[in-house]
Amino acid sequence: MPVALAVHPGDPASLRTPLLGVALVAGERLPSTLRALDKATGGAIARSLKSRDFKGNRDETQLIYGRGRGPERVLLIGVGKTADAAAIGRAAAIVGRRANAMGVERAAFWMAGSASASLESALIGGPMGAWEYRELRTQPPVAERPKPLTAFTVVVAKADAAVRNALAAAKAIAEGQRIARTLAMMPGNLCTPDYIANTAAEVSRRNKLKCTIRGRKEMTALGMGSFLAVAQGTPQDPKFITMEYNGGESGAKPVCLVGKGLCFDSGGISIKPADRMEWMKFDMSGAAGVIGAMEAIARMKLRVNVVGLIGSTTNMPSGTAMNPGDVVRAMNGKTIEIINTDAEGRLVLADVLTYAAREYKPQAMVNAATLTGAIVVALGNTATGVMGTDQQVVDELLGAGQRAHEPGWQLPMWAEYREQIKSDIADVKNIGGRGGGSITAAMFLAEFVEGAPWAHLDIAGTAYTEMDLGAIGRGPTGNPVRTFVEFVRARAR
Ligand code: BES
Ligand code: MN
Ligand code: ZN
Repeated sequence: MPVALAVHPGDPASLRTPLLGVALVAGERLPSTLRALDKATGGAIARSLKSRDFKGNRDETQLIYGRGRGPERVLLIGVGKTADAAAIGRAAAIVGRRANAMGVERAAFWMAGSASASLESALIGGPMGAWEYRELRTQPPVAERPKPLTAFTVVVAKADAAVRNALAAAKAIAEGQRIARTLAMMPGNLCTPDYIANTAAEVSRRNKLKCTIRGRKEMTALGMGSFLAVAQGTPQDPKFITMEYNGGESGAKPVCLVGKGLCFDSGGISIKPADRMEWMKFDMSGAAGVIGAMEAIARMKLRVNVVGLIGSTTNMPSGTAMNPGDVVRAMNGKTIEIINTDAEGRLVLADVLTYAAREYKPQAMVNAATLTGAIVVALGNTATGVMGTDQQVVDELLGAGQRAHEPGWQLPMWAEYREQIKSDIADVKNIGGRGGGSITAAMFLAEFVEGAPWAHLDIAGTAYTEMDLGAIGRGPTGNPVRTFVEFVRARAR
């Protein structure tokens, strides 16, 4: 269920809420705007700070009970030394997560300052932390059921136009992230290519986007031999999905957002080891990011044309599956020698990128994909790998990632790396050998972008987390929804 977001102008001391999160900076005294709130807790906040029981360190929390009117509980949350928008968003997420765990249903949040970037981050952070996928657990009877967080309110000095804009944007982005995370979390037997297509259609219907869904037959007619090579291992109909949002001038070149949508990646004939293979249900996180971003972009009514494109299937070993050594022909005519069937994401994306470039002549084309394990080796779970043929698009993505608090880091795409994907028999092969695995994957994609200004986000390390991150638990992170939104936002009029 979505968390209803709101702002509350005025003194936090007068807010009737079961839980008020209060973000405090390390080493700072009690802000004067919190004097009334401190009184409402019988001076407990000031005493805690004075005794240094609570220091305001990052992620540090202390729960205090109110007395009488105002918040029933106050949760002090430390943001560390600097209260930038990222730190505020994290603090809000921790409050949202704790509120959801406590079952208080409604929570509020206060932070010093009035920067709209911080406000937007706080509003996005609350639902980010509270998000949980409960659908597949048998629920206890209603009376005993822990209540999920359903409302999150940020206290502001006054509700001016900037505040209202931040609220509207945050609602849109939070909803986009919620959709993306839910899709990503769903197991592969439920989140099938069909399900992804239906979700894209549903998002499109609600937001009046034009949605086109193509299956194996239509893709065969388009000559998508690379995508279809992956899909030939499964009886499920693969889906090639386009979602068109026209917020810009009619006829203006769109931004194309492309997502890898592998509902499960077993590796195919080049099968993966069993250990942790279940995580490969997240191999459609790029697609989830596209759907989530399209929802957010449409809700925000950004004045720019955007097309979301998704290639969705599963990578399975079977009697009909592609084999190592096979050579297939992509939509753009290039032949591909398949050395490793586990390098399937690039095969799917190849044809979708070609289609996007040819059909839409985009002003910029960005894809997101859980493409390589190598990016996790290089950058861990903290930074998204950013590579591209157009430095302007790469730079914009790096900036967008910063504003989104989904940082990216560029890797080079020098011509030398092209050598690694030369084939003995075809125009290109689908893996590049030992070194630079993320780069050679990007070099492969670049063969199919048809000159469009293109960049690629390798989100294999950032789309989901196998570790509890404090602000959010194990599972999907919502990355790259916000990066996509920030990228498009900066290109909007
Ligand atoms: N979906 C995987 C990439 C991946 C691996 C994501 C680990 C998250 C965690 C992708 O399809 C894949 O299997 N890539 C191979 C490429 C290799 C065969 C060149 C990989 O990274 O091992
Ligand atoms: Mn794979
Ligand atoms: Zn994959």
